[in-house]
Amino acid sequence: MNDAAGHVHPTSTGGLILPYKGARPTIGRDVFIAPTATVIGNVTIGDGSNVWFNVLIRGDDHWIKIGERTNLQDGTVVHLSKDSAPTFIGSDITIGHGAIIHGCTLYDRCMIGIGAIVLDGAMVETGAIVGAGAVVPPGKRVPAGEMWAGCPAKKARDVRPEELRYIDRNAAHYRGLAGEYLKMRRALVSGM
Ligand SMILES: CC(C)(COP(=O)(O)OP(=O)(O)OC[C@H]1O[C@@H](n2cnc3c(N)ncnc32)[C@H](O)[C@@H]1OP(=O)(O)O)[C@@H](O)C(=O)NCCC(=O)NCCS
Repeated sequence: MNDAAGHVHPTSTGGLILPYKGARPTIGRDVFIAPTATVIGNVTIGDGSNVWFNVLIRGDDHWIKIGERTNLQDGTVVHLSKDSAPTFIGSDITIGHGAIIHGCTLYDRCMIGIGAIVLDGAMVETGAIVGAGAVVPPGKRVPAGEMWAGCPAKKARDVRPEELRYIDRNAAHYRGLAGEYLKMRRALVSGM
């Protein structure tokens, strides 16, 4: 999908991409956005990232930036808090199904488990894992290389080397999967 103003790279494809008060999402190269995903307002998505079915990224009252090759799996919600807490999501990150990412910072190559919630002002550093279903309270920092779980989330243990490798493998896997969907979408659009 492309738009007249060039906010969506021609090699990318999109679900529902809406402006808010004149701010339009900017979508990089080779970004897959599933047909049922919604992206609104002041949102930037970097090259090769992928946004799966029923994801909502709502950049209305502040900005949201997403880096490169990051996967946001089905049903995830990304929002922010008006004036006080934008959302920054780095590169090569895995965000599991149904997560809520709200007004926080996720650094490159971390992993957010299925159904986890990360709240305003929280930071998840590089190589950290937030376990499935965990709630990271406002302002908390999950340090690099630590695995946090529970509600409220607390350190459970250090991240294992194989888990760090998994984070990289999974980002690559999702990129490949997104590439397949992009191909199928282009074939459909061109009537092949
Ligand atoms: C957090 C996680 C990585 C830990 O996996 P694990 O190696 O099997 O866990 P461990 O055996 O080391 O458990 C350490 C402790 O944390 C607890 N724990 C593990 N996962 C937990 C979770 N999601 N929530 C709460 N506690 C959890 C364990 O019960 C254990 O507690 P104990 O020491 O009191 O018995 C895993 O459970 C998880 O949530 N992975 C995320 C998967 C995911 O969402 N992937 C998304 C990409 S598709």
